[in-house]
Amino acid sequence: MAKMKFGNVEEEVITRDEFSLEKAREVLANETIAVLGYGVQGPAQSLNMRDNGFKVIVGANPNGKSWDKARRDGWIPEETLFPLAEAARQGTIIQYLVSDAAQKLTWPEIKECLNPGDALYFSHGFSITYADQTGVVPPDFVDVIMVAPKGSGTSVRKNFLNGSGINSSFAVGQDYTGRARERALATGIAVGSGYLFATTFKMEVYSDLTGERGVLMGALAGIMEAQYSVLRANGHSPSEAFNETVEELTQSLIGLVGQNGMDWMYSNCSTTAQRGALDWKSRFRDATLPVFEDLYRSVASGEETRITLKANSADDYKEKLDAELFQIRNEEMWQAGAKVRSLRPENWQAGQGDEYG
Ligand SMILES: NC(=O)c1ccc[n+]([C@@H]2O[C@H](COP(=O)([O-])OP(=O)(O)OC[C@H]3O[C@@H](n4cnc5c(N)ncnc54)[C@H](OP(=O)(O)O)[C@@H]3O)[C@@H](O)[C@H]2O)c1
Repeated sequence: MAKMKFGNVEEEVITRDEFSLEKAREVLANETIAVLGYGVQGPAQSLNMRDNGFKVIVGANPNGKSWDKARRDGWIPEETLFPLAEAARQGTIIQYLVSDAAQKLTWPEIKECLNPGDALYFSHGFSITYADQTGVVPPDFVDVIMVAPKGSGTSVRKNFLNGSGINSSFAVGQDYTGRARERALATGIAVGSGYLFATTFKMEVYSDLTGERGVLMGALAGIMEAQYSVLRANGHSPSEAFNETVEELTQSLIGLVGQNGMDWMYSNCSTTAQRGALDWKSRFRDATLPVFEDLYRSVASGEETRITLKANSADDYKEKLDAELFQIRNEEMWQAGAKVRSLRPENWQAGQGDEYG
């Protein structure tokens, strides 16, 4: 463990140098890690741990599509692939990686499978923090730990394969065995994290729900729509509006910001762009600050969770979502985007920002 300064703030971070894979193997030598769920995080974390030499089994619903996906990845029924409850019974570290809505649904069955001294592992603070809505209250005879990768499952696997890793936060929610912290850190290293930073279940979920509703997706998409529509209303062509709003951001600038920081970006663009962007930055910040404050309040009050659980558990959720996404796909801005992408030259490096970001 090292204390590191981020600006003037000291934080606890754990790198792979301080907590090596060898050490993780020692800590988890007698553990069977049961990964419940094989959607996005499940495959990434289980395959990384399997490749790293840990004893891993997978739990999935034999009638669901994840079962077949797991089989295709080499998990063998009755050897390393089991129905959810059976995997939970066999595991000593139970990685609860079904969707957050499914955690609420499956919890009554899974909690009966826990044995004294097991570790119940999450990759999100959601179910525990909003226990009043999810009903997920672990018994007092288990450790409750979290490792939350700060990236999609696809990146967790991809970055593992290229040796870089994805940063993760970690937390201990309950320490029954006295080993909860080392189990959390060891699984964090086992799943291929870059560095690990300390958090709590509550802080993780509050920041995560704010981030994805905010800058990572909701705010970004909203602000793109606003700029595109102003440009179009003033007679700019779809191609011009899209390139100035999305293409240049995703294919050039954001990767450079990821690699070098914002001050570098300001000092490496035209002086015209530089002066204007610096002047307008505070207007956008001030205009959106109250929206972010509203958003955080809605997250902290549990309102966002109430909305999410209600929507996700509706029978027609998938159909309604498909219709919503169909509509977005057919909006002029994203139709223009599809056309712009189709016009990229053959040797275009897909997602150029990726290599920086
Ligand atoms: N997505 C990410 O990249 C990401 C990033 C960081 C943290 N996390 C966290 O990681 C955890 C897993 O998220 P995820 O995105 O990987 O989940 P996901 O892809 O949405 O999970 C889908 C899995 O849940 C199973 N499932 C759904 N409904 C079920 C039910 N009623 N009974 C049993 N199984 C059911 C699915 O099985 P079938 O296919 O058989 O239906 C599938 O295996 C969550 O806590 C999430 O917040 C996710």
